[in-house]
Amino acid sequence: MTHEEIGLSGTPKKSVTIVIDGRKCRADEGEIVLSAALREGAAIPHLCYEASLDPYGACRLCMVEVCHNGKTSMVTACTLHATEGLEIRTDTPEIVKYRNVLFELYLAEAPKSDVIKEMAARYGVTRTRFLKKIDTDDPLGGSCVLCGLCVRVCNEIMGAGAIGFVNRGPYTVVGTPFFEANTDCIGCGACANVCPTHAIRIEDRDGERVMHSWGGGRVRLAQCGVCGKYYAPGALTAATLARLLPPLRDDLAGLCPACRAKRIADEEIRVNMRGGADHHVRPRRS
Ligand code: SF4
Ligand code: FES
Repeated sequence: MTHEEIGLSGTPKKSVTIVIDGRKCRADEGEIVLSAALREGAAIPHLCYEASLDPYGACRLCMVEVCHNGKTSMVTACTLHATEGLEIRTDTPEIVKYRNVLFELYLAEAPKSDVIKEMAARYGVTRTRFLKKIDTDDPLGGSCVLCGLCVRVCNEIMGAGAIGFVNRGPYTVVGTPFFEANTDCIGCGACANVCPTHAIRIEDRDGERVMHSWGGGRVRLAQCGVCGKYYAPGALTAATLARLLPPLRDDLAGLCPACRAKRIADEEIRVNMRGGADHHVRPRRS
């Protein structure tokens, strides 16, 4: 069972055929076309697609041409859903032209980003005709493309709302209010994990997580009661444990994931060995 996988609802997903640059591919009906295309090895540049968030087509880099009933249109592949017979082209002259202008814009928007430079160079764009953004207040040091993923993950998934867009127009940057350390930040690091340009600087040192990009905010890291390793922000660990149902046993709560798993595995081995020993001494019934 490959594409006929069982969905979360328990119903099998229907498989459809889509055509990417003349090649027939399988996809789940309704699947995000960008996701299916990347799985099939198609080269479609993208910055703002993150599977755990609703697609919203911010960066426009994944633009493809869709052919339907003899008509063509340009659509972002990350907001397009797979249907039977859908046909897309990823490298028409119009798409290449559009994409190259975008790369030039991103080279100007994030002149310090090696990720953007390398991505643009792969598509043959190494210069920009646009004025480079120079903003000394930018806490992300000229590496942010304003895709908004960090802001969305902080708000929509972590529920912290610690960062947001600051200023307007060409002066827009991402940061904390007044660029100061924000006590709403729990130091989860989700923002840095989703950032496509690796613009966000977070460092773990001396039992603390320091958010260099977010006003230098600091949160204490929880320390494992067995191995002594600092393993996660204390506030995040406490919030996660508070939500667990059934609750985690008290003796496991202060352990890092590795020590927790080892303790549970050791207990299971002991129980199984006892069961095996009991099995050996148990008299057979006739
Ligand atoms: S910091 Fe990264 S994730 Fe946040 S808006 Fe900028 S590029 Fe996107
Ligand atoms: S990845 Fe599709 S618009 Fe950004």
